[in-house]
Amino acid sequence: MERWQGRVALVTGGSVGIGAALCRELSRQGMRVVGCARNVQKIRELADEETKRGSPGRIHAIKCDLTQESEILSMFDEIRQTFGRLDVCINNAGLSHDASLLDGITSEWKNMIDVNVLALCICTREAVKLMKEAGVDDGQIIHISSMSGHRIPEMTSFMYVGTKFMVRALTEGLRRELKADGNHIRVASISPGLVETEFEYRCFKNDPDTAKSIYTSIKCLEPEDIVQSALYILAAPPRVEVHDILLRPLEQKV
Ligand SMILES: NC(=O)c1ccc[n+]([C@@H]2O[C@H](COP(=O)([O-])OP(=O)(O)OC[C@H]3O[C@@H](n4cnc5c(N)ncnc54)[C@H](OP(=O)(O)O)[C@@H]3O)[C@@H](O)[C@H]2O)c1
Repeated sequence: MERWQGRVALVTGGSVGIGAALCRELSRQGMRVVGCARNVQKIRELADEETKRGSPGRIHAIKCDLTQESEILSMFDEIRQTFGRLDVCINNAGLSHDASLLDGITSEWKNMIDVNVLALCICTREAVKLMKEAGVDDGQIIHISSMSGHRIPEMTSFMYVGTKFMVRALTEGLRRELKADGNHIRVASISPGLVETEFEYRCFKNDPDTAKSIYTSIKCLEPEDIVQSALYILAAPPRVEVHDILLRPLEQKV
């Protein structure tokens, strides 16, 4: 990880869950981390905790609603003005609604597509642009996808599954475009099974018991397990391009 020290990483959805764990660890690894989310206060608190702890890096919080392209573009302007570069972009923000294909609300479908797919693409496009502007030829893009991008569970939010299948296609598409472009920026996905975060509580916002029962049904992955996968990708030698890391809780059947 030495080569990333002092360099700049963007983590979307840095306020809670996997994103907060990524911000914390990358700062402990000496990176200058930009965490973005709507609840920017949580990222500021994380930044204060890491400063008090003496982490060698730093966490810079930016408020950004990823459903608004103008807010994403303003965030990249701020990164450009503050740091003048970007080395790593982790597209972590994502969500599911309990919205079926037969009865779901269109605004909830749209919200999943906006954050899980479109924001991921806009952030990636802007990240690669800034890497190239700053002469960063060894940058890394990481998409936090899901096992739901690889298999279709029996019953779930199939619109969410659709967004993650799309992330899988986008990972390979980006890999090919980067090769055609002749640069050495790498792209990888991480595809976790069930991770204990706020994810299911947000999905089942009117039914916390269902969310709780999902997390107590098996011993889930922890956000730190996903962080370890991200560190593996970042620490890979320059000749290696990790493509996708699939990981499930040991007790998860599908
Ligand atoms: N938990 C799991 O079982 C699981 C399994 C496989 C894959 N994943 C994937 O892992 C990623 C992280 O999920 P998590 O489990 O850490 O979920 P989480 O605890 O619910 O956190 C989601 C994050 O996304 C951010 N976010 C949501 N909508 C946003 C918006 N409009 N603008 C900006 N930020 C937004 C949230 O920030 P604010 O609300 O503060 O904006 C929050 O930081 C997602 O892509 C998810 O699909 C999760």
